[in-house]
Amino acid sequence: MTTAKGLDNGLTNYGDRDFARYLRRSFAKSMGYTGASLDKPIVGICTSESGFNNCHRHFPELVEAVKRGVLAAGALPVVFPVISLGEVFLSPTSMVYRNLMAMAVEEMIRAQPMDAVVVLGGCDKTVPAMLMGAISAGRPAAMVVAGPMMTGRHRGERLGACTDCRRFWGGYRAGSVPSDEIEQIEGRLATTSGTCAVMGTASTMALMAETMGMILPGSATIPAVHADRLRNAEETGTLAAQMAFTGAPLPADVITPAAIRNALRVLLAVSGSTNAVIHLAAIAGRIGMQIDLDEFNRMSDETPVLVDLKPVGQGYMEDFHAAGGLEGVLREIAPLLDPSTRAITGETLAERLARPLADPVDRRVIRAAGDPVSSLGGLIALGGSLAPEGAILKRAAATQSLLEHEGRAVVFASLEDLAARIDDPDLEVTADDVLVLQNAGPKSPSGMPEAGYLPIPRKLAQQGVKDMVRISDARMSGTAFGTIVLHVAPEAAAGGPLALVRNGDRIRLSARNKRIDLLVDDATLAARRAKAPAPPATAERGYARLYNDHVLPAPLGCDFDFLTAVTPPRG
Ligand code: FES
Repeated sequence: MTTAKGLDNGLTNYGDRDFARYLRRSFAKSMGYTGASLDKPIVGICTSESGFNNCHRHFPELVEAVKRGVLAAGALPVVFPVISLGEVFLSPTSMVYRNLMAMAVEEMIRAQPMDAVVVLGGCDKTVPAMLMGAISAGRPAAMVVAGPMMTGRHRGERLGACTDCRRFWGGYRAGSVPSDEIEQIEGRLATTSGTCAVMGTASTMALMAETMGMILPGSATIPAVHADRLRNAEETGTLAAQMAFTGAPLPADVITPAAIRNALRVLLAVSGSTNAVIHLAAIAGRIGMQIDLDEFNRMSDETPVLVDLKPVGQGYMEDFHAAGGLEGVLREIAPLLDPSTRAITGETLAERLARPLADPVDRRVIRAAGDPVSSLGGLIALGGSLAPEGAILKRAAATQSLLEHEGRAVVFASLEDLAARIDDPDLEVTADDVLVLQNAGPKSPSGMPEAGYLPIPRKLAQQGVKDMVRISDARMSGTAFGTIVLHVAPEAAAGGPLALVRNGDRIRLSARNKRIDLLVDDATLAARRAKAPAPPATAERGYARLYNDHVLPAPLGCDFDFLTAVTPPRG
């Protein structure tokens, strides 16, 4: 039995329902639809292609495949755009616009006549934005992700955006890569459509979407340019048409607290992007759940890292897909997962894992649980006097000898200060020091950019220094690596202890104890607080003002306070 209302969903309010219906059908017919087509259930296809988003340049082809699947299953596909977020094209950072995109997704799904929706995302912030919006819109929804780029080649070497971008740029800064070669590499790093070729934020979020059940099983890692990616889009269209007929499941039936906990497990097992912690916190907030950082640390200590991929290891996403993809990981950590979660297909995780594997897993890329890359999960949360409300460290990407480290702070008060002084030959800094960046959190004028990967001061880089402990309230690209403490909360612009650090202070990082401590006595800190400069001026108008006034701290996912769920989660 169908619950679909099709074009009659949410009629425009003219005070005369029949007139509104007649007018809507008349205008729809102006686009060439027959009355028979307009009587069908409608599947909206929410796309995010843009000339400013290289990762989504194949979306027109994907959209056609989704449409084919919808039509074949007897529903009417209607494509509509939302804003797109191309990671490297947005200033000050795409993070600021994730919530704007989530609002656009939510409102356009709710305001337009559709019985179900397929959302298409891929580049970093677009997957969480689509999921956040879809949850809050409360219509049956399925997702298609872009899929990763293929690798390029340079002088016999494979190149993948964007871990190799950083490696070569580091060489260029240190003087070992000449400028004509860096120009050549610029054209060879990102050679196909799709998302970054390593386990960066986009790849991680695609895996989170699959683990939570919002994309079809096995589809997170299909490369963007494979025919399988198109077949996946067609199959998703078919499923969405069935969802339009039945009115189920809703995203909140699929993304339950158990599904989010499973996603956190997978995040740890694939040593995924630190950004995923923020996005999962925001997604959790949309169902009324808060991620408990102590529980996250317990999970981390018992979840092994199983994949050997850049930025931490060797392989690229295309290797991960060929090796078995998420399926290969899920089967190894199955005892740690909640088997009762149910995907958009209606299948439980237990049922999925009971099916025989189509191909053997390639253990060079996806290790067995008994032979992990690391017996500990890739990420941990830190507490301590410098981050009383939490911080994140990707221990899998850190230099092991720096995980227990005490050093002298070298402080940069802002991104501008960092840019002005980091390469100053007179900067007083040694490899044992701790670089601290203040005022780069969500409420700062910079809006929490991926600036936590502070460059090694040029004079140290030229001496061969590759890593130092670096601390900030900023984020880090999922494609970056190093001993980097991120998302320090409360942030400096909100008056957190990070704002009180001064050059020469001692700071102690202990990954073992999961702490980051500022070794300065309370009286000194109180005196500094009394003399602290006023917080940076906030924006006066527009979206920047909305962002500034309502963004939540990093541990709550940097969502807007008025967008989180008002009802407790189901299940
Ligand atoms: Fe789009 Fe990396 S730039 S995923």
